[in-house]
Amino acid sequence: MCTNVKVGFVGLGKYLPENRLTNKDLEKIVDTSDEWIVARTGIKERRIAREGEATSDMAVNAARLALKSAKLSARDIELIIVATITPDMFFPSTACIVQEKLGAPKIPAFDISVACSGFMYGIAIANQFVKSGTYKHVLVIAAEKMSSVTDWKDRSTCVLMGDGAGAAVLGKVADGGILSVYLGADGTKGNLLKMPAGGSRMPASISTVEAGLHYLKMQGNELFRHAVKIMAEAALKATEPLGLKGEDIDLVIPHQANLRILHAVAKRMGIDPEKKLYLNINKYGNMSAASSAVALAEAVEEGRVKKGDTILLDAFGAGLTWGAIVVKW
Ligand code: COA
Repeated sequence: MCTNVKVGFVGLGKYLPENRLTNKDLEKIVDTSDEWIVARTGIKERRIAREGEATSDMAVNAARLALKSAKLSARDIELIIVATITPDMFFPSTACIVQEKLGAPKIPAFDISVACSGFMYGIAIANQFVKSGTYKHVLVIAAEKMSSVTDWKDRSTCVLMGDGAGAAVLGKVADGGILSVYLGADGTKGNLLKMPAGGSRMPASISTVEAGLHYLKMQGNELFRHAVKIMAEAALKATEPLGLKGEDIDLVIPHQANLRILHAVAKRMGIDPEKKLYLNINKYGNMSAASSAVALAEAVEEGRVKKGDTILLDAFGAGLTWGAIVVKW
């Protein structure tokens, strides 16, 4: 392992479907209100993929922009990782579908199923491959069509989710780059957020469809508590070994599940949410793995991340899984 190799983000891209679903639109579908959704979650609207638009379509759009910003073509990429829990189909992997659509050569391509922490895990894997000298450029895409697993009759979950994709090209950088990576998982709490049917435990049947078991099921209240505690702990685990404290971080770019979770995490970290917390949950809701990838691309696009800044990516999701990454930009 060439530990002196610095690995960083050399290209970023994002794609959001055009179709906006506002809280007012949701008022017509389920018993809810704009006031409740904004107060409890911070979400005002979310994007919904158009009919026939699959996860790989969104992934490819984000990937093309990431390649363009890296000034690379699909032929320069040596590995494709797609983080998703809403693949086009069980197999072949969405990464293989993306490889074909991008016209990339016969490089390795695979999906990872890490729910909302998928972008963190994808970056962590890419970091290892570039650091070791195995590959020069790795494409990490986080793409989700959450609307395809959402029960539009369940007000406790349907107001939360959105569709989208973010992509990053990782490669060698001259200065800065990824300084630390911290990942974790706790399978004992897997029941708090899951899609019960469609796998080998409960294959798709008329009765599973009738029982709505192909939709995500969530115990929101309990997840909320774990999310606050775990995201704050993950932030600490990623920053402490570097001797960094909350005040040393220029911007925290978190997974966007709930505004109240993020404010509580910021408080535990001792950072001012107004200045140091990147938020776009109001526009997109929770896009699972795609949330932190889109947030990073957007924060950079808006000039919120400057050369030399120390940023913290922090995510938490089903599994349970989590990950925090410190990057010097
Ligand atoms: N509109 C109006 N009322 C709603 C509602 C909606 N969309 N959804 C739920 N409610 C009601 C509930 O039925 C409940 O009513 P009751 O008291 O009469 O039973 C009340 O609001 C409170 O519900 P509760 O679930 O306790 O609300 P909450 O404050 O915990 O907020 C979530 C719910 C889902 C927003 C919140 O728990 C959350 O964000 N959880 C974590 C999400 C998360 O981290 N997800 C995955 C990780 S990526």
